[in-house]
Amino acid sequence: MNGLFITIEGPDGAGKTSIIKELFPLLKKVAKTEIIQTREPGGIPIAEAIRAIILDPKNDRMDDRTESLLYAAARRQHLVEKVLPALASGKIVLCDRFVDSSLAYQGAGRRIGIAEIARLNEFATEGTTPDFTLYLDVDSDTGLRRIENHRQDQIDRLDSEGLEFHQRVRHAYLKLADKYPERIHKIDARKSFQEVLEMSYQAIIQQYPQFFESQEGDRK
Ligand code: TYD
Repeated sequence: MNGLFITIEGPDGAGKTSIIKELFPLLKKVAKTEIIQTREPGGIPIAEAIRAIILDPKNDRMDDRTESLLYAAARRQHLVEKVLPALASGKIVLCDRFVDSSLAYQGAGRRIGIAEIARLNEFATEGTTPDFTLYLDVDSDTGLRRIENHRQDQIDRLDSEGLEFHQRVRHAYLKLADKYPERIHKIDARKSFQEVLEMSYQAIIQQYPQFFESQEGDRK
């Protein structure tokens, strides 16, 4: 693996999707090698098809372990079809969610257990771990309020879970960030959009000068 594998994580309402949209072009400008943006579940046709099944609010009979297996299946296909070839050819991969999401949502949120979900994902990824993870942290009240304000017309099956589910998810993320401080960089996502964007950008380019030109004061 010669490239750089960066993942972005966070509970619902952390602003992850909007941050990535702005962060990717900024990183692209200073990247010394090709950079691609992708997402989980999805990123390639088979995984996008699985995503549609998982997130469809009509599938309210889905068993928690079925859900976990579907995320892991989508992850496996996306990894072998897109992420690993890109890394092998030296690219930087910026991926919206990865195994940490399953640990937090299925392991803690659905209460299957972190260790069980870790084992399932070990099978799916054969141990592939991101080099660096940005974790956008937001408390569950703020997160849920943001979802309600901004996305009334596109609430998915997981967004519609209650406060306690989202609190368990966030708590698991915080524990993971404590457990893997070298890999997981925590950012306070209650701050303004511009601040979160700037902190995310700086965290990545400062950590990997071999992959990004440092252009202090040169942006905008
Ligand atoms: P995402 O598209 O990142 O949604 P959002 O923009 O709301 O963050 O992810 C969709 C949902 O899938 C989100 O609620 C988190 C959930 N999810 C899991 O529960 N487990 C997983 O392994 C992944 C990748 C996502």
